[in-house]
Formats: sequence, C-alpha cells, structure tokens
Amino acid sequence: MRLTILGLWFAVALSAQDQASSEGQKLYQFHCAFCHGKGDDGMAANLVTPNLVHAPTDSSLVNIIRNGIPGSDMPPALGMSDAEMLQVAGYVRTLGRTAPTSIAGNASKGKALYMGKGGCAGCHMVQGSGGRMGPDLTQIGAMRSPSNLRTSIVDPSASMVGGWTMVHVTLKSGTKVHGIRLNEDNFYISLRDGKGKMQTVAKADATKIDRDITKSSMPNYEKVFTSDEMTDLIAYLFSLRGAM
Ligand code: HEC
Ligand code: HEC
Repeated sequence: MRLTILGLWFAVALSAQDQASSEGQKLYQFHCAFCHGKGDDGMAANLVTPNLVHAPTDSSLVNIIRNGIPGSDMPPALGMSDAEMLQVAGYVRTLGRTAPTSIAGNASKGKALYMGKGGCAGCHMVQGSGGRMGPDLTQIGAMRSPSNLRTSIVDPSASMVGGWTMVHVTLKSGTKVHGIRLNEDNFYISLRDGKGKMQTVAKADATKIDRDITKSSMPNYEKVFTSDEMTDLIAYLFSLRGAM
C-alpha cells in the first residue's frame, strides 16, 4: 500500500516537474530566445554549458535573470514574477545538464594558430596579454556559441559587436590617421591607432573623417584557415571561460 502511494506521488511529482520545465521553456522562448536562441546558437552567451561563468549557483542564476548583467547587453527581466524566474532558471539548468563539455577540435592546436598564423593576439587580449584593437576574449567561450564564434571569424562584418568603429581621418596637413574610435564629441575625436597609441584630433584640423560603421576592422579569415584549422581555433576560443 505505502509503496503504491509512494509510486503515485512519484509519478505526480515527476509530471509536475515536466510541467514546470515546459512552463520554463515557454517563458524562455518568450523572454530569452531572441538573444540566446536555442541556448547554444544565439548571438548572446552560450547557455548550454554546465558552468555558467556569471551563474555558478541557482541563486546567482535567478539574480542574473532578475537584474541582468550590468554593463553588458544582458537585460533585467521585464514583467516576470519570482515564480516565473525560478521556472526559467530551472529550464536553463536543464540546458546545462545536456551540455557538451567540449566540442570537436583540438584547443591547443587552436591556440597555436591563434598566436601564430592568425595573428589574433595582435588585436585581442586574453588574460591580460595581447593587443587592444579588438575586444578582450578572456571569457569569449562563455559569452558566445561555437556557431557565433565561427561567424565572427569567417565574416566579421556580419556579426559586429558595438564599440569598435574604425575611423580614418585626413588632416589639413595631408597626414592620415587611422584607428579605433574611443571617444567623439562635436569638436574632437580620439582614437587608438594600430600601434596602440591614443590620439586626439580636433575636428577643425581635419578635412575628412570616414567611419566604418558597418565594416569590421577585423580581417576576414575565411580563406586563411583550412576547415580543420578552423575547428581547432574555435575549440580554443570556446575553451576561454575567464580565469580558471
Ligand atoms: C537582449 C538580449 C538578451 C536577452 C533578451 C537575454 N539575454 Fe541573457 N545574456 C545576453 C548577453 C549579451 C549575455 C552575455 C553578457 C556578458 O557576459 O557580457 C547574456 C548572459 C546571460 C547569462 C550568463 C551566462 C554565463 O555564462 O554566465 C545567463 C545565465 C543568461 N544570459 C540568461 C538569460 C535568460 C534566462 C534570459 C531570459 C529571461 C536572458 N538571458 C535574456 C543577452 C540577452
Ligand atoms: C586588426 C585587428 C584584429 C585581428 C588581427 C583580429 N581581430 Fe577579432 N576583432 C577585431 C575587432 C575590431 C572586433 C570587434 C568588431 C567585430 O565584431 O568585428 C573583433 C571581434 C572578434 C570576435 C567577436 C567578439 C565578440 O564579442 O563576439 C571574435 C571571436 C574574434 N574577433 C576573434 C578573432 C580571432 C580568432 C582572430 C585571429 C584568427 C582575430 N579575431 C583577429 C579585431 C581583430
């Protein structure tokens, strides 16, 4: 008798859990899928991982859903009750449980390509070393899905992240200055040139200022790497998950 009851309770509890996760899934579709896709194919952070950098615990996960991640594009949840946030958090955790902890490719070969043939470190910083002509990639594996990483490399202009506009200034003297725009107002524009040097130019001294709004200054690597090399490079980038 007790066993039957226990069995029944178990069945009910399990189906309640299914229910909760499908509610969570619906909420996820509505609030999160726009940026996170199915979890590992969105333009935002990859959620199909057992180790979320910003959300090691369930309470930090709910906290992120409630408040977003200040200073990033991850917004605070709008119009969600506490119970709904818990349901979405539960759903995100189920994504993590089925996560591939590794992907195809050899990350250490990928690192060699990154440092060598790709010349990526000339522009990107990882764990404090590298250049400053592109975004810091220390946590890029936690922030982007493998497919998004691939697009960044084979078609940089198709997946541009904001804040890295290249500008070309021609001064009255005829001198040309190129660099990543750091700051701009009505009178001045400051940029960081390819050598990492910061320059501020008075607009009154310029005859021409061109801004590459839709074109990334990152080279297109589609033809640089073989497809095996590309897989290794992505495995390396995907392994970059902050200080570990
Ligand atoms: C407008 C786009 C957008 C929406 C909508 C969005 N996110 Fe995010 N989310 C991001 C971005 C971008 C990041 C990466 C932030 C960073 O680390 O720079 C992120 C990061 C995260 C992280 C941290 C990942 C990690 O490895 O620590 C979690 C968890 C997360 N989002 C969950 C959610 C959930 C759940 C929802 C829906 C309730 C949601 N997000 C809605 C853009 C979005
Ligand atoms: C000349 C400088 C330069 C070089 C060299 C360069 N990048 Fe970039 N990279 C950038 C800039 C600028 C951006 C930001 C604009 C954009 O998204 O295209 C960027 C963006 C990225 C992004 C997207 C970041 C994000 O937040 O989604 C990834 C990934 C990336 N680069 C990886 C690489 C790899 C791997 C290499 C070497 C194979 C490389 N880069 C070489 C300048 C460079």
